[in-house]
Amino acid sequence: MILGAGSVGPVGAGAIGNGRAMAILFAREGAQVACVDHRLEAAEETTAMIAAEGGQALALAADVTREEEIARVVAATLAAFGRIDILVNNVGGSVPGGPEELTPEAWHAQFHHNLHYVHLSTRAVLPVMVRQGGGAIVNLSSVAAHRNIGPDLMAYAASKAGVTALSRMIAVRYAAQGIRCNVVTPGLMHTPLVEARLAGQRTGGDVAAIVARRNAQPPMGRMGDAWDVAYAALYLASDEAKYVTGAEIVVDGGLTLKSP
Ligand SMILES: NC(=O)c1ccc[n+]([C@@H]2O[C@H](COP(=O)([O-])OP(=O)(O)OC[C@H]3O[C@@H](n4cnc5c(N)ncnc54)[C@H](O)[C@@H]3O)[C@@H](O)[C@H]2O)c1
Repeated sequence: MILGAGSVGPVGAGAIGNGRAMAILFAREGAQVACVDHRLEAAEETTAMIAAEGGQALALAADVTREEEIARVVAATLAAFGRIDILVNNVGGSVPGGPEELTPEAWHAQFHHNLHYVHLSTRAVLPVMVRQGGGAIVNLSSVAAHRNIGPDLMAYAASKAGVTALSRMIAVRYAAQGIRCNVVTPGLMHTPLVEARLAGQRTGGDVAAIVARRNAQPPMGRMGDAWDVAYAALYLASDEAKYVTGAEIVVDGGLTLKSP
């Protein structure tokens, strides 16, 4: 089950964000994928891409920040596939602001969008995985949880650091029950988010300027893409990672190792 399996890009453009790339890769490996998104048409675009490759997927609409909607998609996934072996918490996004600019409401909204729902979804899926005798949870953090990456992203950084910490707690607590919990930490990725939101927020709509700025930051001289994130998630979700829990794979082209 992938939460946020659509894409922030426009429907019909076939845009590939992290959640969609994961859904496609997991299906290529034989997983039956429940693609959950608050935009049903975005989830359906993902399932259509999977079906076109001969894979199996189910599109489900839900606002994952609502407990009853999480319960509904967990039940629908169990009804369709009989089990939930993998949970990916991919929903997330940033709102810029430092301590003086961010209102308390904006701060809470960021925590709701990035962290609170991760508790709701794990709380709903853990009993299923315990009953099954195991499972794998993959949570999406960000390098912003570790260091300043340019813009002031105070609430995003703090809430993503919370995702990483929560994941380690779950890893230790549920290790004996065969449930692993790991983190993928992307750096600056060229996902549809760059065009759909960041250009407007940070360069007054100048897409070329935001792309150039982000390409210039990592030592590799370019942003990564959604597939880079998806392959890391695929490994952590797979049986090949059977002895890996509480770990974090940083996918950032060396960004966090670079001196400012
Ligand atoms: N793109 C980057 O550069 C980058 C960098 C670091 C971390 N990340 C993280 O990766 C994850 C995915 O980012 P992305 O940019 O690839 O986005 P994405 O294209 O994977 O889209 C996220 C999806 O979540 C859906 N969504 C949003 N709110 C929802 C809600 N309340 N309920 C259900 N679905 C909802 C959106 O419709 C969208 O389809 C996020 O957690 C983000 O913070 C991204």
